[in-house]
Amino acid sequence: MTTSTDPAPVTTPVLDASGVIMRFGGLTAVNDVSLQVNAGEIVGLIGPNGAGKTTFFNCLTGLYIPTEGTVSYKDKVLPPRSHLVTQAGIARTFQNIRLFANMTVLENVLVGRHTRTKEGLWSALLRGPGFKKAERESHEAAMELLEFTGLAHKRDHLARNLPYGEQRKLEIARALASKPGLLLLDEPTAGMNPQETQACQELVFAIRDQGIAVLVIEHDMRFIFNLCDRVAVLVRGEKLVEGTPDVVQADERVVAAYLGTPFEGAPGDEEVAEVRAAEAKAADTPAADGATSTTSTPRTEEEGDTA
Ligand SMILES: Nc1ncnc2c1ncn2[C@@H]1O[C@H](COP(=O)(O)OP(=O)(O)OP(=O)(O)O)[C@@H](O)[C@H]1O
Ligand SMILES: [Mg+2]
Repeated sequence: MTTSTDPAPVTTPVLDASGVIMRFGGLTAVNDVSLQVNAGEIVGLIGPNGAGKTTFFNCLTGLYIPTEGTVSYKDKVLPPRSHLVTQAGIARTFQNIRLFANMTVLENVLVGRHTRTKEGLWSALLRGPGFKKAERESHEAAMELLEFTGLAHKRDHLARNLPYGEQRKLEIARALASKPGLLLLDEPTAGMNPQETQACQELVFAIRDQGIAVLVIEHDMRFIFNLCDRVAVLVRGEKLVEGTPDVVQADERVVAAYLGTPFEGAPGDEEVAEVRAAEAKAADTPAADGATSTTSTPRTEEEGDTA
């Protein structure tokens, strides 16, 4: 039981983005967004198309230099250079898959490990004394990651020959190879079938259980709300709401942001009911030639709703 003498729970921010603004000419794609991800957390970032989610990721990972704001990882401000961000401990996957298509699955993961191996180019080229040992270790670590992500049996396949869902998994394996403390996933289940999406959810939980914090962009709401401890909603570049999945799902502004607010002058419930009643009455009235119409039955909402 919680008593007033209990210490406050300790939350250690891994990522601390503060006041991030990204402008492209006259367009403000990300407008003063602050977000923290704590150790042990899975945080979701959702929002309609074009809301600025990927742009925000690009600001976090040094691909873009934010117009304003800072991004810190474990209390150190990150330089806006992607290789330095990876070295610091943040790894990511891309919305548009970026694999080395003509390399094998195993080689793709080995490339991802590159930032963590000490062996330099010359040692590799000359096959110096440390090289063989380092190579063996890299190989073992890469195979472990392929086992972890369920791709070990595909190790010698070319990346371009993998089905889409497995390419997404390989991107995750490659990102993990840099031994991150924070993993950013940009639409990891895009193009996956329901079974693959379920497996991806299990994989993200397993990654979190290894002590890696996760920030994930996704349009699949079921996936997000099952997975995340906390969810932030971006709309037109601004953070609209942030909270637990329950809080976010219940927030009317979030529903409105996705569905659009009803336009002014849109018929209210009463008008809709009146029209329905009139239509139903018309359907019950036999047509002029005495035949009962079978085609004028009003469409119900259920029939019209294909979602
Ligand atoms: N390099 C760029 N130059 C100019 N405008 C850009 C650039 N990158 C993104 N934008 C614009 O910024 C806005 C946000 O785009 P972004 O890709 O971040 O959205 P998103 O939330 O990831 O959308 P989606 O869910 O469709 O992936 C869009 O209007 C986009 O056109
Ligand atoms: Mg995007």
